[in-house]
Amino acid sequence: MRLNTISGRFAALTIIFVVLAELFILLPALSRFRLDFLESRLERAQIASLALLATDESLTSDLESELLQNAGVLNVVLRRDNVRQLVLSSPIRDQVSATYDLREEGVVQTIDDALVTLLDDRDETVRVIGSPVNQAGQLIEITMKTAPLRGAMIDYGLRLLVLSAAFSILTGILLNIAAQRLILVPIRRVISHMTSYALEPDNTRHIITPNARLAELRDAETALEAMQKTVTSSLKQKERMAQLGEAVAKISHDLRNILTTAQIFADRLEYSADPKVRRAAPKLVNSISRAVNLCETTLAFGKAEEPAPSLSRFNLTQLAAEVIEAETLAGEAAGQVEFVTDIAPSLTIRADRDQLYRVLANLSRNARQAIEGTGSPGAIEIGAGETDSEWWIRVGDSGPGLPEKAREYLFKPFSGSSRKGGTGLGLTIAADLIRGHGGRLELVRSDEEGSEFMIHIPRDMAILPARAGAAAR
Ligand SMILES: Nc1ncnc2c1ncn2[C@@H]1O[C@H](COP(=O)(O)OP(=O)(O)OP(=O)(O)O)[C@@H](O)[C@H]1O
Ligand SMILES: [Mg+2]
Repeated sequence: MRLNTISGRFAALTIIFVVLAELFILLPALSRFRLDFLESRLERAQIASLALLATDESLTSDLESELLQNAGVLNVVLRRDNVRQLVLSSPIRDQVSATYDLREEGVVQTIDDALVTLLDDRDETVRVIGSPVNQAGQLIEITMKTAPLRGAMIDYGLRLLVLSAAFSILTGILLNIAAQRLILVPIRRVISHMTSYALEPDNTRHIITPNARLAELRDAETALEAMQKTVTSSLKQKERMAQLGEAVAKISHDLRNILTTAQIFADRLEYSADPKVRRAAPKLVNSISRAVNLCETTLAFGKAEEPAPSLSRFNLTQLAAEVIEAETLAGEAAGQVEFVTDIAPSLTIRADRDQLYRVLANLSRNARQAIEGTGSPGAIEIGAGETDSEWWIRVGDSGPGLPEKAREYLFKPFSGSSRKGGTGLGLTIAADLIRGHGGRLELVRSDEEGSEFMIHIPRDMAILPARAGAAAR
């Protein structure tokens, strides 16, 4: 019998409960038995003593001792009224060690006396007093040995024990059969479902159908079903994402090659005879090399590693100006979105310039797209400052605020986009890049008056080497 199984525990509990129940039953039963025994002795002694009435003369001592022997007592006194009394007596060798008056004994007293009788294995002589049956007198008193009483009590107790042991074994077996049928079989069914599901979690055929009759098990099955459905669908989604990722990686790879060629041509534009083309050339080269970088980063993302930031000190106002310039050019309805900066011109920060450009570009683009989506004009403000421990950059807008879905899936890849043509990656990438700096990106405000994102970059970059390449996704 293994105690860590349900059937083992059932068996052990049955034994414990039966033993407890027996203790509660055995003691009162034994004390009742002792009382009955003594009362029957009193009755027999009363009948024996009545033999005295049949004769006027006194009994012969032989007859007297035979009467006493039949009654199983040593002495009888039957008091019929204050004057008359019948007495049968034989010589008592031992001293009377205790007197039990059955007319006065309470429940606790009788249990106590029964225990004393049972535990004391000496053959004592005791006096027992009771009321005669049929009002045949005032009082009857006998003297008797305790050994026969004790023997009968032990006999009775043993029979009771054997009977209840048999009864408890039967109950235990029945309980176990019931437990097997009601609990274990349905539990095993759930386990086998889990095992077959675990082998093929993307197969919807293995999802459990709740049909247990026990309410608790049915609840467990329903919860399991819900969990399996979620896991299966997210596995399927992951699979689709993996395929998409593969496609993106292939595209990025080839796009990078195409862009590298374009970069070579763009380089040549610097030597163009047309001064306008010459002026535009560096910007074109810059944009293309950013695009090449992005392709490379996408490829690295596919390999599950964001490149560790390569830190340098640079002027933040300049970077913000570049972002704003690119966003203004990209704006669909020029003039609808106004860009404002609130950065001390001398503020320099230490970070990965390209990565921070991507972060600010993503945040500004989102804000611009949100404002454009409303059809009315709006403003975007990039502010920044520093404290002893960090640099902070704020990107706020007067747009419509993040839609509910975007807030719910904030910073989760592919999930939060509510924009037509949006992939839902912009904010995730931004948050990952800032995390790569040991900092954090957070949404501090979003309501109908606009949204505000805050970037925190710690000055203490000691944590960076350990984090390299471990940007969370
Ligand atoms: N400043 C903002 N104001 C209002 N909504 C915003 C703002 N920034 C983000 N959102 C919402 O959050 C969603 C998720 O933004 P995210 O940049 O992650 O993805 P996306 O812009 O939809 O696609 P992409 O991956 O091309 O950037 C957006 O679709 C948009 O609904
Ligand atoms: Mg975006």
